[in-house]
Amino acid sequence: MLIYDALKEDHDTLRRILQTLDETTSGAGTRRLELVEELREELIAHARAEEKIFYDTLKETDGTEDLALEGYGEHSTIESLLRELELTDPSHPRWETKLESLRRNVEHHLDEEETTTFECARRNLTPEEAAMMANAYLNLKDQIKSGSLLHSALETIAHYMPARFSRRFHGLSRQPF
Ligand SMILES: [Fe+2]
Ligand SMILES: [Fe+2]
Repeated sequence: MLIYDALKEDHDTLRRILQTLDETTSGAGTRRLELVEELREELIAHARAEEKIFYDTLKETDGTEDLALEGYGEHSTIESLLRELELTDPSHPRWETKLESLRRNVEHHLDEEETTTFECARRNLTPEEAAMMANAYLNLKDQIKSGSLLHSALETIAHYMPARFSRRFHGLSRQPF
């Protein structure tokens, strides 16, 4: 498997969740909340691992920061739109407008990555490098999903804090980003 296949698989998962969300009705508030939570888990793990493994490498090999910067910018827009959706009542008509805006932005971003960004990466990476990066990506994404990276970082931070204040850092990693 090459990095492009690993990223594309996750893009399809995101597209599927958004499609399912689009088919829900305003009476299915609980279902909407569950799906948005699932979307957050997939989207955040994908974005963080993609930035570290794919964009940061592209920045070094392409000789230009343009694509990487654009990607980082779009991730940040998408995450704000996701936050707005989470803060909207799922039974309110505004929720559907927010979902539509999030979906449009995510789909545009994924389509662009699968064309322009992948083409640029294929010019700059050997197939061997692209295969190694797929492994690295899957590994990092799993660690982000399981919360183990954040968990070990927070455990370390807890040691630097005065003992009586350190308790609140333990177990924090189970909370969402
Ligand atoms: Fe992305
Ligand atoms: Fe992506």
